[in-house]
Amino acid sequence: MPMFSGVETPNGDSPDGPDQSKNHPRDPRDLPSLMLSSCYPISLKFIDVGYRVKVESKSKGSSNLRRILGHGPDHQESSSGNVQERTILSGITGMASPGEILAVLGPSGSGKSTFLNALAGRLQGQGFTGTILANNKRPGKQIMRRTGFVTQDDILYPHLTVRETLIFCSLLRLPKSLSKNEKTMVAESVISELGLTKCENTIIGNSFIRGVSGGERKRVSIAHEMLINPSLLILDEPTSGLDSTAAHRLVLTLNSLAQKGKTIVTSMHQPSSRLYQMFDSVLVLSEGRCLYYGKGSEAMGYFESVGYSPSFPMNPADFFLDLANGTYGFDSRFCLCLCCLLCVFLLIWSIQLMSTTWVP
Ligand SMILES: Nc1ncnc2c1ncn2[C@@H]1O[C@H](COP(=O)(O)OP(=O)(O)O)[C@@H](O)[C@H]1O
Ligand SMILES: [Mg+2]
Repeated sequence: MPMFSGVETPNGDSPDGPDQSKNHPRDPRDLPSLMLSSCYPISLKFIDVGYRVKVESKSKGSSNLRRILGHGPDHQESSSGNVQERTILSGITGMASPGEILAVLGPSGSGKSTFLNALAGRLQGQGFTGTILANNKRPGKQIMRRTGFVTQDDILYPHLTVRETLIFCSLLRLPKSLSKNEKTMVAESVISELGLTKCENTIIGNSFIRGVSGGERKRVSIAHEMLINPSLLILDEPTSGLDSTAAHRLVLTLNSLAQKGKTIVTSMHQPSSRLYQMFDSVLVLSEGRCLYYGKGSEAMGYFESVGYSPSFPMNPADFFLDLANGTYGFDSRFCLCLCCLLCVFLLIWSIQLMSTTWVP
């Protein structure tokens, strides 16, 4: 990725990691506040972001099966394929500011994860176009180090407790200049910051081993990234699979992180109206294109001004999903057509009935 190739040191930290020992007192009692409250504000701009991939469409669909069965070598399969370009993202422009939550909304397959990967500099290959700027500069290693990315699928060890997971992670991820005790203190601070104290001695678990709840598990994933005290936190559908109360609690946590000056960019599949009103800015995607970017509170007004408004008061996020899926107005038109068809059918049927039963 050309975007994140340079090395920048906006506050003079060494390229090998922020050396806390030089700039700050080493008293361990100061460490948690040092790691959790100091925040280097990142203003993220994305200009005309696009992403295209080359997709090989095979002439015969069962190529993998035939390869497994040993019918024909691999190079013959690929030579029979025909490469096509597919646009995943196109012309997405906007910005995310410190202290704000930018929510990326859209139906499944609209490009939310791809867009978040683009913002985090994780897109591989030549298909990426557009510009991503952090504080008006191309993001360097320093910005990358201050970026936390919470993926949709948690990758955590099921047999470790929450506390063990976070201490293990802090020992691995924090700079060498911190002692083991200091790293443990950072992990403990993050545990309390994210409300995980109650379950700190519970194992993570998985579908076979009972562990923490889904909401707590998501919190552990966020805590995992919070250990490095990121200024920019990117989250891919952190509320998917959670009930509305757990989702609300999680977004409240994100809100409190934003209020500390962090820039939060999160994708959400179907947020409730209670969650929606906590978003400062909203980006609505449909098939990789931007339907709306702007303040969350102004989105409904914008769609009304261009002739799209719901027929009854509804959750804005649900309405945008209908628009992005192209099912806006589908229900009423469909019902009208169905009624007309039913009337015609009843009319024909009654005429037929009358003609067969009426004997003069
Ligand atoms: N590298 C890739 N190659 C082919 N198709 C891709 C690639 N990356 C994403 N896609 C396709 O792009 C679309 C958007 O994917 P994604 O960003 O995961 O959507 P969302 O997160 O909104 O569900 C999907 O149809 C997906 O299959
Ligand atoms: Mg996704």
